[in-house]
Amino acid sequence: MGLVKNSIPVGEPSGPFDTVFVSSQLALGPVPWTIQWLPAVDSTQDLVREAAGAGAQEGLTVVTDWQRQGRGRLGRQWVTAPGHDLLFSVLLRPGRTMLSLLPLLAGIAVADGLKQATGLAIDLKWPNDLLFDGRKLAGILLERGPEPAAALGVGVNVNSGVDELPAQASSVSLALGRPQRRETLLVAILAALGAALQRSREEGEGWVLPSWRQQSSMLGNRVSYERAGAVTAGVAEDIEDDGALRLRGDDGKLTRIYAGDVRLLRG
Ligand code: BTN
Repeated sequence: MGLVKNSIPVGEPSGPFDTVFVSSQLALGPVPWTIQWLPAVDSTQDLVREAAGAGAQEGLTVVTDWQRQGRGRLGRQWVTAPGHDLLFSVLLRPGRTMLSLLPLLAGIAVADGLKQATGLAIDLKWPNDLLFDGRKLAGILLERGPEPAAALGVGVNVNSGVDELPAQASSVSLALGRPQRRETLLVAILAALGAALQRSREEGEGWVLPSWRQQSSMLGNRVSYERAGAVTAGVAEDIEDDGALRLRGDDGKLTRIYAGDVRLLRG
C-alpha cells in the first residue's frame, strides 16, 4: 500500500483512508483515540459536536475525504478537492482551566506533528495558522460546545497541487516535492496532541506560551489587523497570558486582539 500511495503524483487523490493503520499506531497513547472515516460529509465539525452531545468520549476523531460545507475561522468556507488533503475533527473534553490557551496548544500540537512527520520548518501565525515559507499549510478551527466539550477541526493541505489551492497557500507535498500519506500525518498530529493534553493536565498550562513563542516568527514583526473596516498596522509585540495578541500600533497605542486575523507585513 505504501508503494502505491507514494507513487501518486502531487495533485492526485490518495485512495481509501487506512483507519486500521492509524488506530494501531496510536493504541498506546494517553488519549483513547477512536478513528472514524467517512468518504464525504457536510463538515466533520458537525459530526463531532453531535457525538459530543450524545456523550461520546474524548478522542473521537472523524476523518473525511471531502466536505460539502467545510468551514474555516471567521465564517469562511474551507474548500478542498476530494481525497487530496487531511480533514478531521477531534472531540476534546478539556476542562475549564485549559480552555483559554487551547487554541494555542492546538496550534503547537499540529505543528509538532507535522514537523515530526515531514521535517518541515513550520511557523505558527496567531492564533493557530500553520505556515511553511510564508504560505498556509494548515488551519485550525476550535469550536466550543456542547459544554464542556470542544470540537477541534484541522485541515492540512497534503497532496493538493497549485491549481487546487488558494493563493498564499501551499501543501505538504509541494513543500517536500513528493506525495505524502495522510495517515502518517494524522498519526503524528494525534500523538503530539495527546502528549500536549497530557502535559497540560499534569503540569498546567505554563509551558504553552513559551512553546508557542518559540515556534512563531511573527512576534517583533510588523502586522496589520482589520476590524469593522478599520485597519491598525503595528508590531506584534507578544502573546498575553490569556492568549490575546498584543499589537503596538504605529501611533504607540496598545491593542489586545482576542479574535480575528492579522496579516503579516513585510519590512
Ligand atoms: C481556518 O484556517 O480557517 C480553519 C480551517 C479548518 C478546516 C477544518 S477541515 C476539518 C474540520 N471541518 C470543518 O468544517 N472545518 C475543519
